[in-house]
Amino acid sequence: MNLTPRQIVEELDKYIIGQSKAKRAVAIALRNRYRRSQLPKELREEITPKNIIMKGPTGVGKTEIARRLAKLVKAPFIKIEATKYTEVGYVGRDVESMIRDLVEVAVRMVKDEKSHEIEAKVKPIVDGKLIDAICDTRRATDIPVDKTIVTEEYQNGKLENEQIDIVVVDNPKPMLAIGGPEINIGSIFDGMLPQKHKKRRMSVSRAREILMSEECDKIIDKDNVYAEAIRRTEEEGIIFIDEIDKIIGKAGGSNNQDVSREGVQRDILPIVEGSTVATKYGNVKTDFILFIASGAFHVSNIEDMIPELQGRFPIRVDLDNLTKEDFKRILSEPKNSVTLQYESILKVDNIDLKFTDDALDEIADMAATENETSENIGARRLHTIMESLLEDISFNASGDHPMLEVNIDRTYVQNAFKDSKKKFDLKKYIL
Ligand SMILES: Nc1ncnc2c1ncn2[C@@H]1O[C@H](COP(=O)(O)OP(=O)(O)OP(=O)(O)O)[C@@H](O)[C@H]1O
Ligand SMILES: [Mg+2]
Repeated sequence: MNLTPRQIVEELDKYIIGQSKAKRAVAIALRNRYRRSQLPKELREEITPKNIIMKGPTGVGKTEIARRLAKLVKAPFIKIEATKYTEVGYVGRDVESMIRDLVEVAVRMVKDEKSHEIEAKVKPIVDGKLIDAICDTRRATDIPVDKTIVTEEYQNGKLENEQIDIVVVDNPKPMLAIGGPEINIGSIFDGMLPQKHKKRRMSVSRAREILMSEECDKIIDKDNVYAEAIRRTEEEGIIFIDEIDKIIGKAGGSNNQDVSREGVQRDILPIVEGSTVATKYGNVKTDFILFIASGAFHVSNIEDMIPELQGRFPIRVDLDNLTKEDFKRILSEPKNSVTLQYESILKVDNIDLKFTDDALDEIADMAATENETSENIGARRLHTIMESLLEDISFNASGDHPMLEVNIDRTYVQNAFKDSKKKFDLKKYIL
């Protein structure tokens, strides 16, 4: 499925209010990957992606766009924080690990698809093994066993939670080498050492997951998977670099920190520009990977970035500050809106919350005012307000009462903040 730019924006609209410039830029960049893929090879080689940099105040939806995008695209996608990288030679993760992480995502993606294709073939084998394991486990505790009955119960899904003993492949844990790439000791010797097996106790449903993936692994041609994963990483991969402003020092800054940040930028440059990174699945060319960077740029500016890197992000979009009207919409419109979250979470304890329209007005108004008068933290302000607004109800709800309808209207909101409003007024006097 390849979404059109319009469809991508529509999907993003379900979760993010406003910020249409950023949404459009991202949507176009994504669609351009698809458009490019339809071209003849020679032409394709000429077209490199137009990387994007998003700039905007804190809490206006930059990271949220990345998060939603990740769920939307069917391409290998990772979101990384620029701050976790350090210059080569220092303790921390080197920038090339972002490519290795991306391939890892692609490998998982391709493997999942292939497993899905052969699921029907593998399922009867796994069912057989599970039924045997159920019988064996029962026999071991001297429970009389009738395999026909077990099979029938199993097929009717009645035994999903039964604990069984099952022999599974014992995968060594990935090891983290400090200062270097993550190395999975097991995978270095992939196929060279005999696999170790281990008996473990778990539910039937969990055992099914493990056995399915083991059986699929036996059939799937690993080399094919890796080759396809690398192709997808190179051609379709997207890396979202969040908090990029944190690796940009102040203009002309010359303290140690600024120098080290510049070092990270210099390390990132070849990756964004196009180079080859060795991964355990093979070499990956980074020339056609799409990079989307974002940052608040409070202290630094995009112009403070080293010029070569700036040049690799030709598209710049500014995110807007959120208004009172935006806040009101954010409260109620997104599929995962804050009010909806509180409504569902409190319903568990028999509280049926209802927000009236004028309550939303009042909360949005408070958020806008607070952002103006104290620190501007964007939509995060809504979370802090909602938390203290519902603190009392959250604390007292216990579930041991019948469903209680609680109406949150303007008066409720005003009353809830009466005391803090007073404090607020007082502060104004003192200042
Ligand atoms: N435009 C928006 N529409 C809906 N929700 C939003 C919007 N902007 C922010 N939010 C909500 O506010 C919270 C913070 O947003 P987000 O993490 O995207 O901020 P950010 O722009 O990345 O800020 P920072 O620069 O501090 O990283 C999230 O819970 C997000 O859902
Ligand atoms: Mg963010």
